[in-house]
Amino acid sequence: MESAEVARRFLKYFEQRGHTVMPSASLIAEDPTLLLVPAGMVPFKPYFLGQRTPPAPRMTSAQKCVRTPDIEEVGKTTRHATFFQMLGNFSLGDYFKEQAIPFAWELLTAPVADGGFGFPEEKLWVTVYHDDDEAHDIWHTKVGVPEGRIQRRGLADNYWHMGVPGPGGPCSEIYYDRGPEYGDEGGPVADEDRYLEVWNLVFMQKQLGAVRSKVDFDVTGDLPAKNIDTGMGLERMAAILQGVDNIYETDTLWKVLERAAELTGTRYGRDLRNDVSLRVVADHVRSGTMMVADGIRPGNEGRGYVLRRILRRSIRNLRLLGGQEAGLMHELTAAAISAMGEQYTDLVRTAANIHTVIDAEEESFLQTLRTGTAIFDTAAAEAKRSGGAALAGDQAFKLHDTYGFPIDLTLEMAQEQGLEVDEAGFRRLMKEQRDRAKKDAQDKKTGNLDVSVLDELLNASGGKVDFIGYNNVVAEARLAGLLVNGANVQAAGEGAEVEVVLDRTPFYAEGGGQLADQGLIKLGNGAVVVVEDVQSPLPGLVVHRGRVRQGEVQVGDTAYAEIDVERRRAISRSHSATHMVHAGFRRALGESAAQAGSENSPGRFRFDFTAAGAVPISVLRDVEDEVNEVLINDLDVRAFHTSIDEARAMGALALFGEKYGDEVRVVEIGDYSRELCGGTHVASSGQLGLVKVLGESSIGAGVRRVEALVGIDAFRFLAKENVLVAQLAEQMKTRKEELPERVAGVVSRLREAERELERLRSQQVLAIAASLADGAKDVGGVAFVGHRAPDGTGADDLRKLAVDVRGRLQARPAVVMVAGAPKDRPVVVIAVTEGARERGLKAGKLVGLAAKTLGGGGGGKDDLAQGGGADAGAIGDALAAVERAVGAA
Ligand code: ALA
Repeated sequence: MESAEVARRFLKYFEQRGHTVMPSASLIAEDPTLLLVPAGMVPFKPYFLGQRTPPAPRMTSAQKCVRTPDIEEVGKTTRHATFFQMLGNFSLGDYFKEQAIPFAWELLTAPVADGGFGFPEEKLWVTVYHDDDEAHDIWHTKVGVPEGRIQRRGLADNYWHMGVPGPGGPCSEIYYDRGPEYGDEGGPVADEDRYLEVWNLVFMQKQLGAVRSKVDFDVTGDLPAKNIDTGMGLERMAAILQGVDNIYETDTLWKVLERAAELTGTRYGRDLRNDVSLRVVADHVRSGTMMVADGIRPGNEGRGYVLRRILRRSIRNLRLLGGQEAGLMHELTAAAISAMGEQYTDLVRTAANIHTVIDAEEESFLQTLRTGTAIFDTAAAEAKRSGGAALAGDQAFKLHDTYGFPIDLTLEMAQEQGLEVDEAGFRRLMKEQRDRAKKDAQDKKTGNLDVSVLDELLNASGGKVDFIGYNNVVAEARLAGLLVNGANVQAAGEGAEVEVVLDRTPFYAEGGGQLADQGLIKLGNGAVVVVEDVQSPLPGLVVHRGRVRQGEVQVGDTAYAEIDVERRRAISRSHSATHMVHAGFRRALGESAAQAGSENSPGRFRFDFTAAGAVPISVLRDVEDEVNEVLINDLDVRAFHTSIDEARAMGALALFGEKYGDEVRVVEIGDYSRELCGGTHVASSGQLGLVKVLGESSIGAGVRRVEALVGIDAFRFLAKENVLVAQLAEQMKTRKEELPERVAGVVSRLREAERELERLRSQQVLAIAASLADGAKDVGGVAFVGHRAPDGTGADDLRKLAVDVRGRLQARPAVVMVAGAPKDRPVVVIAVTEGARERGLKAGKLVGLAAKTLGGGGGGKDDLAQGGGADAGAIGDALAAVERAVGAA
């Protein structure tokens, strides 16, 4: 059964049983406690916690997931993958154990012809949490599983939570017995290789506070309802149903694996090391492709780093397989897109974009490998020479910091050479560096991420703070929560740094590239908070950061929030201008110019997009011209809500692998631009006034950045340039229009004069060549010229002179030595004819001799060599020494 069919069957089964089929959410978790979505239930977390109302009481999904803690295991075991898909059915306070258990059993055991998976009942085992008699009885009495195939297990195996504060509960797992050839009898308790876990049913009912480990956590209470969360690994299921031993041989991964073998000229199943590499490549390329498709870009932090590591490990493993050349990743990405494209049609639509990102990362990593491998080899040789068995931490750090060598690569390469790495030393240096970098900016933004405190705040504000700032710049609200130093407080006095939560707010929280609003929150009792920053650390929560300027603020007070309107207007202009410039680039460069980040600040914006190379200046000018021409038509800017599908059908640009939800917000500027966007905008394009693109640059592999000004800032920039041009024209005594020609003329005359000067100087030096050749001394049958050039003669000229004189003495055995002191320090050049070389007179050797006399070193080829020293006063001695050596030959 194909993987896609496994998913279809699962979803259909639950759809027929009243479940709403939800699309997979983006891999980018909408949750500050997670970098990436590691389980099918993540998008449902706010529903379990009662923070949001679920769209339906029963839902089902096939969710894209990425997990990397076990990345080292990939390829070595039969079942570890960094990317996988989790099939799940979810009940939000609807049915519980008594229905979830039979649902699962029926789907697994129903014949394939009837829409099931056709597992023989006697091959299935189940586990329950040790004191969960209820689940045990349902399995035994209601479903009919014999006692002997139901096993009880403790916290480590049969309690599920997210590893962070959130929902959790006991679970019941279903295992498939692969048969005696895979291991010992005795059920999952005895051997989890033979008995393969296929489905986990979590009875989600508890709220967890601190989570210290899998088995050590605080239960803070009951969830508002008893829920069901289940997870069936699609890849594992496919492996069983396709009769293969491991997930890498299932249909989709196999397509990538096969292509990797083909491209590297290896055969799968011949050599274990190669097999592991092929599996790593297949898994990682697929993960990387899926991550890029969801808008993640390779980087050195967070998700970007996870992606970079995955892509770079693929490239490393390709090299281990003998695949050295550039372009392999392109072929493999294409294979992954075609393997996954049936289920994820977006992949095909955005293929060009995915390739741009992955190709660029390959190119930059191959460059890094070239430089870094040389440095690594030196460091490794050094470590071995000095008798050590380990590469020093600071060397690993330097490889990382200066040459972009990921530590795992250093570890792998060290291992290949039988060396260890002082990892602790490396980590210490990394931490020191990170601490330095993070201290200011980062800490300020996400420092207080104590999720339980944030949850409290969210609850205090009624589960969701209403953002009313699209249409209001002031609002009356209730002060719902207050933090000082990250802790909940009831009141704060003058001068305190506070974080304030209101039940509704006109303040826009930084997001979608748009900077936060600033302004004031005035309390009924006369107290005032100056708001400097606004963030949304959890969906639905808005936190105002600032300082109490006067009075005392108290939770429960009535608050009047007013934003700095000028700042907001300037930021909104930037945001609308970004949309227009983005639309302009897509028109000029095509679909692949996808936005990869932006920042809209007052009067100024920048936006990053993917492109294979530099954008020609003519394109920048054309886009700028078009945007200005369009904006003065004063197009209406309209924002409205609609469904994702609707928005797509209208051609709205979805930027970062959109997240699902009932509705999305679309912002359109006339017919020129249409994007999904939650930001604030001008009312009509005429309000932008003017857009001036400043330039374009590279900010990383495959990503370009355009910076631009808008409104009065754009005007002032142009006015200033205008003054500058006027000043230059005056200085050059010409009209503005003729300035370029004038400057070109001056520059070319200057160049000509420099060339002339150079020619005259050479002539002067060479003028004496004839007389030097005529005056050559006969030293034991060799014509010898020893000349000291005037101080200041350049090394090039010394060389030219020596060669010229030698040319005139070509027919004889001759040695020409020219010495000088171009910049205080002596330089000597010796040129030797063939006749002299036959007598054993070598230029390199003679220079060595001269240089030694001058207190320095040098050398070169037999016919021409150059050297230098420290003591210009010894030039006479050097000439004499060489002359003696010639005489002695
Ligand atoms: N949330 C459960 C898991 O990930 C189903 O295993």
